[in-house]
Amino acid sequence: MNFSRSDFPKGFLFGAATSSYQIEGHGFGGAGSTMWDTFAATPGNVVRGENGALACDHYHRFEEDFDLMQAAGFDCYRFSTSWARVMPEGRGAINQEGLDYYDRLVDAMLERDLKPCATLYHWELPSPLADMGGWQNRDIAGWFGDFTEVIMGRIGDRMFSAAPINEPWCVGWLSHFLGHHAPGLRDIRATAHAMHHVLLAHGTAIERMRGLGMTNLGAVCNFEYAEPYDQSPESLKSAKLYDGYYNRFFMGGIFRKEYPQIVMDGLAPHMPKGWQDDFDVIGAPVDWAGINYYTRKIMQPNDGPWPSHEEAEGPLAKTFMDWEIYPEGLYEFITRTHREYTKGLPIYVTENGMASNDHLIDGAVEDAARIDYLNQHVAMAKRAADEGVPLEGYFMWSLLDNYEWALGYEKRFGLVHVDFETLQRTPKASYHALKLAFAR
Ligand code: FCB
Repeated sequence: MNFSRSDFPKGFLFGAATSSYQIEGHGFGGAGSTMWDTFAATPGNVVRGENGALACDHYHRFEEDFDLMQAAGFDCYRFSTSWARVMPEGRGAINQEGLDYYDRLVDAMLERDLKPCATLYHWELPSPLADMGGWQNRDIAGWFGDFTEVIMGRIGDRMFSAAPINEPWCVGWLSHFLGHHAPGLRDIRATAHAMHHVLLAHGTAIERMRGLGMTNLGAVCNFEYAEPYDQSPESLKSAKLYDGYYNRFFMGGIFRKEYPQIVMDGLAPHMPKGWQDDFDVIGAPVDWAGINYYTRKIMQPNDGPWPSHEEAEGPLAKTFMDWEIYPEGLYEFITRTHREYTKGLPIYVTENGMASNDHLIDGAVEDAARIDYLNQHVAMAKRAADEGVPLEGYFMWSLLDNYEWALGYEKRFGLVHVDFETLQRTPKASYHALKLAFAR
């Protein structure tokens, strides 16, 4: 790598991130059905129909995985808890085996000096709750609050940090408007309801965790830089609207207790009744913000219904996801978050990384492109930190190759290669390079 730990202020944290359904092996330990299991079981939704039943079998191999993290010199580990593993029906009965698993998991992190950074929900909604409308149902805020108390009642005493929900945009827009993720809906009313309820659930969980005496609670949103196709007023508006519903809607709700007008111009008629009265819950004070960042999009107008725009092909080099590599966007979002939303609170990059077409050859994976990608993005984070933004840590996505949602196991994001037949782990060149950087 072309950076080292000593380039950052003392105490700056380097971490790796994963999520429960993507690595654990949901088939183990008495977990209940989730909307990702049924989404994946429906033809056409997921590449090769793959699901998370086995994934990386982290459920049985977490000690080995944490040994690798410790050996590389990581400071912290961002993981998520599976609602259906802890409460198979989503409400009511508790699966003790699930709670015991997270208890062991957290202790195994602490034994290796890895700070546990929890995300309570990273997308695998228990099926019985999906049956009741899932994120479209306002009651989900209370159901999620109850789950929060159960899981954090058990492990909350040992968390370094906790955030309720990973990437509200994906929970709302990607899953209910674009239909690319479970539950695979394409409906503007479902979208407006889900986008609001996910924030209501976020705020409810923050309040419940405060009630448990927990500290260092945050929000993790994802961001894409919106570039207009050209300088026409229509293209400029397309990019501004994309920025609005992708980046500003959730930050606005949480940190300013308002939604951007440009988004409400389209969504207002579809919002749940009384949404204006929920901002005291949604805007419950948090202690930090997490930024997940991967790419940018070039937006141009079209003549379809609102939002009346579409993506255009961009000229930059792309990752194996076909995502343009645009490190400057990370700098923009770190500085903008500080300037316009968090105003002094600590900021973390909670996800950044790339998929590449990695191959295990003679026991090694030469992922030079990933090293380059990380170098470029860490440099942008450093630039923001050098300018005085309180950036306190950086998590790479991901520790392991894993279940990349609708794209199955084909897209490898790991610093550690996983052979999905034998489940053997092999650290890639990027892992070895990071290990050297962390030691310097
Ligand atoms: C993020 C998700 C994560 C992973 C990466 C590539 O949006 O949080 O689970 O899929 O993208």
